[in-house]
Amino acid sequence: MSDDRHHLSDPLFATPSAAPLRGRVRVPGDKSISHRALMLGGLAIGQTRISGLLEGEDVLATAAAMRALGASVERQADGTWLVNGVGVGGLAEPSDVLDMGNAGTGARLLMGLIASHNLTAFLTGDGSLRRRPMARVTTPLAQCGAQFFAREGGRLPLAVVGAKAAVAIDYRLPVASAQVKSAILLAGLNATGTTRVTEPEATRDHTERMLRHFGAKVVRIEEDGVGVVELQGEAVLRAADVLVPADPSSAAFPIAAALLVPGSDVTLSDICLNPGRIGLLETLREMGADLTIENGREENGEPIGDVRVRYSRLTGVTVPAERAPSMIDEYPVLAAIAAIADGSTHMPGIGELRVKESDRLAAMTDGLSQCGVRVEADADSMTVHGGADVVGNGRSGQAIKTDLDHRIAMAFAVLGLAARDGVRVDDAAPIATSFPDFVPLMRNLGADIRIDGDAAL
Ligand code: S3P
Repeated sequence: MSDDRHHLSDPLFATPSAAPLRGRVRVPGDKSISHRALMLGGLAIGQTRISGLLEGEDVLATAAAMRALGASVERQADGTWLVNGVGVGGLAEPSDVLDMGNAGTGARLLMGLIASHNLTAFLTGDGSLRRRPMARVTTPLAQCGAQFFAREGGRLPLAVVGAKAAVAIDYRLPVASAQVKSAILLAGLNATGTTRVTEPEATRDHTERMLRHFGAKVVRIEEDGVGVVELQGEAVLRAADVLVPADPSSAAFPIAAALLVPGSDVTLSDICLNPGRIGLLETLREMGADLTIENGREENGEPIGDVRVRYSRLTGVTVPAERAPSMIDEYPVLAAIAAIADGSTHMPGIGELRVKESDRLAAMTDGLSQCGVRVEADADSMTVHGGADVVGNGRSGQAIKTDLDHRIAMAFAVLGLAARDGVRVDDAAPIATSFPDFVPLMRNLGADIRIDGDAAL
């Protein structure tokens, strides 16, 4: 598990590709859906078979936590995962601290599950997760009767004392967060009454889709023009097989690389095209990207398709603030793309980036400046001025600081493919949280990205 206490850093170096990137690849399974499949499988009655699960550190932490809570979770030799659930209400008290590593989704959703079970659990995580705000979930979850004892500022490590007889929560989200919405819905499974979450801005709805797939009663209604999700409590979940589509947030990196390296033509297979996840594709189209969706279909209630991307000259745009929830994890890579595009790209309404795996607004501003790009940021927006030749930091002797953030590492790796001197990143190890085969997959397409000192690559 990537942890500031233990791991040795793996410096990464990316340099401009001599040849175009070409090929068809499948990036690993969707992280959001993988966490949810393990959790719902673990709560269902019967055996759930999961194919295409992301085997990144974040998801493996959730698998270990579900085991510690009493579910049986086993990987088969063919790469499928079998989960035998305990039934809603059947989670057991873990005998040790649950270490969620770098995984914000894993930690927050799990707190929801535990909140409505009559047990006590302790959660911790790596240096990044221990800095992230948890009050956004503990405040609403306390409404069901659970108690939380956290460090100052509502941070991990924390103890959850689950409710003895949980009642349904009715909550209006103060921040657009699928994690908070999902934590409340998961708590509602073992509560009496109807759980209601009002979301003024729509966020990814994987939890709602998968809950229906497992037999729970979930509806989305409109009240005064605002979306409200309602879940019927005391639910019975029945095991259901899950085929995890490829992760659009991981696909964003090869997509960006193909757009930046002249002559490239790359196809990404089986990408999850949930409307709550495709804001980046929309933005790139507005910038002039040649993107086509092929073979569109639906699996387990999720829309899926292959994305073909060809090198394109891009122009900066203003990204509408209301699009932020549907591309929240893609702003680092968009900022890298914007550095090469003609003109300026303005990204308002992205204050949430400050509380992701790192302060991504600060990380992108500092890193892009280091690479010779003009960039401005304030509390909740960023503007990247592109167009000029990007120098990179390959000769400066100063590497980009990853700060335990996988997406910062990958965004700068992609920028290195189009920056004159290449880009050096101090530590690629966090990439294993979401995209363990990032470097070999990118090299397969023809990208010159390597982990320094790794003779095998
Ligand atoms: C996620 C929701 C988003 C996203 C995260 C995964 C999820 O977080 O940044 O990587 O799986 O629900 P927020 O809901 O906190 O914005």
